[in-house]
Amino acid sequence: MRLTAASPALAEPIDERVASVVHEGLTAVPKRLPPWLFYDAEGSRLFEAITALPEYYLTRTERGILAAHGPAMMAQAAAGGARLRIAELGAGSAEKTRLLLRAAVERQGEVMYAPIDVSASALDAARRRIEREIPGVHVTPLVMDYTHSNGRGLELAPGPDGERMLVLYIGSSIGNFEPNESRRLLRRLRVGMKPGDSLLLGVDLVKDGALLLAAYNDATGVTEAFNKNLLARLNRELGCAFDPNAFAHRAVWNEAEARIEIYLESRVAQRVRLAALDLDVEFAEGETIHTENSYKYRPGQAETMLAEAGFRPAGAWSDARGWFSVHLAEAE
Ligand code: AVJ
Repeated sequence: MRLTAASPALAEPIDERVASVVHEGLTAVPKRLPPWLFYDAEGSRLFEAITALPEYYLTRTERGILAAHGPAMMAQAAAGGARLRIAELGAGSAEKTRLLLRAAVERQGEVMYAPIDVSASALDAARRRIEREIPGVHVTPLVMDYTHSNGRGLELAPGPDGERMLVLYIGSSIGNFEPNESRRLLRRLRVGMKPGDSLLLGVDLVKDGALLLAAYNDATGVTEAFNKNLLARLNRELGCAFDPNAFAHRAVWNEAEARIEIYLESRVAQRVRLAALDLDVEFAEGETIHTENSYKYRPGQAETMLAEAGFRPAGAWSDARGWFSVHLAEAE
């Protein structure tokens, strides 16, 4: 049994939400941590690096779809000649969104854009960049965690009467949720929308297992670093004593559940001190922490989920290889 020592005192105050989810997940059987923990500053930087990897086809493929069909998507969302305003969930760097904002500005001259994210710094960077690069876009960032329900609908930025809202939820971000959680999120979104408003949803599709696995287990180890950064983050924020090298990155394609599963697997039997939680966690050799599910969709599945949440299909666009699809759905 390896023992790790306590680390030095923490400089920053502890985020209670992080502390409680880590306590809960690492005392559970089997051990798990939620994927939103990946995205501290370093994790966000590593994710941006993942999106440029040759194996990670998702971002590149969706960008191609938006570049080819952005104007058609905007035309369909504005059908009948309405003006649009645009909100985006989990906007992050909003890199692909610019293709859609350009298409909207071309249609209507000016557009209001409300990116929604938990990271104020990512939103601020996106706002400055977009306002500089696409004149006509007025950005009003909303710092909000849309993943946690307050029992009501999602309150999105209200706009002038007569404008239709288009909500963007792209990048396969919905893939991190369990199917029942995805349905609940779509329903909450629907409650915050008016008939005629619409949702643009990007989903990654079920495909050959080897292609999927390569995307989550890249040759240069960026995804491994992204996964292990979770442990480094816990060391930084909770004074934990994880040795990231004592864990291996594992990606599994679970065909029955249509999801990629990501794990951190303990290479040795070890006991790790989590100082801020006053907790010691034991790992057997080969024991895992489940850090992410990334759900992939089968043909027709996105439409069914959207319909169950009160949306009528209004268009779907895919790439030539059928790897990724983008769905427009109108609130009924
Ligand atoms: C940000 C959830 C879309 O599931 O592909 C990338 C996250 N994890 N590589 C995905 C991720 C490992 C990504 N999403």
